[in-house]
Amino acid sequence: MSMSKTVVITGTTRGIGRVTAEELAAAGYRVITLVRDLAAGLTVREAIVAAAPKSRLDVVHCDLGSLASVRQAAGLVRRETLTIDCLINNAGIVSLRRATSVDGFELVFATNHLGPFLLTELLLDRIARGGRIINVASRIHFKGSLDLAQVVAPTQSSYGPRAAYAQSKLANVLHTFALARRLAGRGIAVNCLHPGVVRSGLLPPWIRTIKPLISPEMADVTRGARTTLYLALDAAAGALNGMYLDENQKVRPAAPLAQSIALQEALWAASMAWVDEAGSPASARTGHEPSEAGMWRRTDEQRDVTDSPS
Ligand SMILES: NC(=O)c1ccc[n+]([C@@H]2O[C@H](COP(=O)([O-])OP(=O)(O)OC[C@H]3O[C@@H](n4cnc5c(N)ncnc54)[C@H](OP(=O)(O)O)[C@@H]3O)[C@@H](O)[C@H]2O)c1
Repeated sequence: MSMSKTVVITGTTRGIGRVTAEELAAAGYRVITLVRDLAAGLTVREAIVAAAPKSRLDVVHCDLGSLASVRQAAGLVRRETLTIDCLINNAGIVSLRRATSVDGFELVFATNHLGPFLLTELLLDRIARGGRIINVASRIHFKGSLDLAQVVAPTQSSYGPRAAYAQSKLANVLHTFALARRLAGRGIAVNCLHPGVVRSGLLPPWIRTIKPLISPEMADVTRGARTTLYLALDAAAGALNGMYLDENQKVRPAAPLAQSIALQEALWAASMAWVDEAGSPASARTGHEPSEAGMWRRTDEQRDVTDSPS
């Protein structure tokens, strides 16, 4: 029986995720990659295996913007492996235009939070003791507000690409902290991070052209993978739980809003209801609106919802 450890990672066709998968394969991990573009995933697999023939990589189709696809992918992963040592929720999108997922959610929230939330729930009982869950968030979560009502009725309010992205990354941090609380004492660590401002395919080409002028410190994808790899591989990092790390692998305080236990729990309850097969706005049945639907802003209201940091 192989003694190698298993990592499950999303979004490995390019960017930070591709480098992360490559490095973990080189470190001897069996890497199960979850990609929405199967052909691209297989091409990347070929390239990694060609460069390092001992690499063990599997490619599983998973569109994180579709809850059915996430369920199917989780089922395949569960068939492939009984234990997962590391789960890395890396994939993410920015969308310039408002769009709605097949399940009826605002697409950026669906892809960056709801899909990864469901994936994590469906794989949780397979995560080994001493296992690690890593959520690739962003520093932009400091600019985020959470509008749970807008997530299910995206047409009723104005859309801003930056606000939608910041909201989804705030959700990544809130999810991390809520899950850490639930996993306390179970020997599974969950942390999130900001990878740095990284030259990748995340932003549309025209912004990618301007961005280096605004952010001259822009890092390449290899640098962008460092904190994820630190959380996955470093022995000392195994002691971290419920933390937010910056691009230099340092534990930092997350945004005050992200530290609100009330908000963490509101998102958790809403997400649980939404990933329920009967709970999506696109489903015929109703009655799964989050009980605490409302707006959570980075304003003075924040004080009402901010508990002591977890
Ligand atoms: N770049 C930065 O400056 C920066 C800063 C802070 C945080 N981050 C975070 O870092 C993570 C990685 O981003 P990146 O910079 O490496 O971006 P990227 O180059 O655009 O790569 C994103 C990856 O996610 C995948 N993906 C997108 N939508 C998906 C879906 N619906 N289902 C499954 N996979 C999907 C993409 O696959 P396709 O090839 O199919 O599109 C791609 O492999 C993201 O979570 C991002 O929010 C990046």
